[in-house]
Amino acid sequence: MRTYNLALIGFGGVNRALAQLIVEDPARFAPLGFGLKVVAITDLLMGSLVQSEGIDLGTVLSLPRGTTFASFAGGSATADNERVIRDSPADVVVEATFTDRIDGEPAASHVRWALESGKSVTTTNKGPVAFHGEALTRLAADNGALFAYEGTVLSGTPVLGLARDQLVGLSIRGFQGVLNGTSNYVIGRMEAGLSLESSVAEAQAEGYAEADPTADIGGSDVQLKVAILANELLSAGISPADVDTTGISGLTADDIVDAAREGKRYKLIGSARRTEDGRVVADVVPQAVGADHPLAHVPGATNAVSFETDLLGTVTITGPGAGRIETAFALITDIIAIHSHEKEKIDA
Ligand code: HSE
Repeated sequence: MRTYNLALIGFGGVNRALAQLIVEDPARFAPLGFGLKVVAITDLLMGSLVQSEGIDLGTVLSLPRGTTFASFAGGSATADNERVIRDSPADVVVEATFTDRIDGEPAASHVRWALESGKSVTTTNKGPVAFHGEALTRLAADNGALFAYEGTVLSGTPVLGLARDQLVGLSIRGFQGVLNGTSNYVIGRMEAGLSLESSVAEAQAEGYAEADPTADIGGSDVQLKVAILANELLSAGISPADVDTTGISGLTADDIVDAAREGKRYKLIGSARRTEDGRVVADVVPQAVGADHPLAHVPGATNAVSFETDLLGTVTITGPGAGRIETAFALITDIIAIHSHEKEKIDA
């Protein structure tokens, strides 16, 4: 049975959840036909740790806040990402650092260094995919590696895999989605009478919100996800700036009450569609939708995407869109795809 050596870049909520699954739930991996061993971790606050025999995950998970790796064999207090990514004995680099909304850096460089070294990458980081997805996918192919990013949209709910593997025989004309768990949760709490501010604080406590929740409320989180989906599903070749974006920060209690009076409710909807002349138009905007809309009943932090297809009409997938374990599960989905890719290389 093959064992994949992992380098975890960023040791925040998502990579910690992956480490927890590896150490606490090994039976989950046995039937998948491969084992997982973490040989490197880097983190802005903790530094770098490389141990080719495998890091004791129980120990690093229990370190008190503020502890660095300086006192560990193979450890240092600085996050030497390039050296670790290029030189550590990792087969797969797991990129889960913060999402940058300007150009996807430095995460995009982390991905580039890994792929240039022939290492496959799984990431839940929207920045590198939204800004550089096509180039990084090409770089992966040139180096016999796979660039996988299921968790960038709908966390572990397999929306990209569904589109790529199961809907590929259809023509997809467009999509609409509830793509941000925090804002959907916040709208639901505002419907129950809470203020925007206290609803956001609750979403932060639940672990749905971005480190900077203005990305959730202002719509830029959905903007990146729409760019990723439009490029993946509609070959749009767009960047996030091409997606006109309005978030929910201007939504008031009165708007919500007025919508309810008409039998409607607000959803922050990210969408893209191909026009008659072949262009793709994409936007993010709060919309009051009627009860018969496919996204009207998506609750709490749940997300959903409705595809408009030629042969099946509307196909909707719904499931968790945020959360540490839910997002870490997407990394496992990607590692399964990397395992299939490795087997194909052997068979070729
Ligand atoms: N903050 C995001 C959300 C997490 O609320 O949906 C997943 O990107």
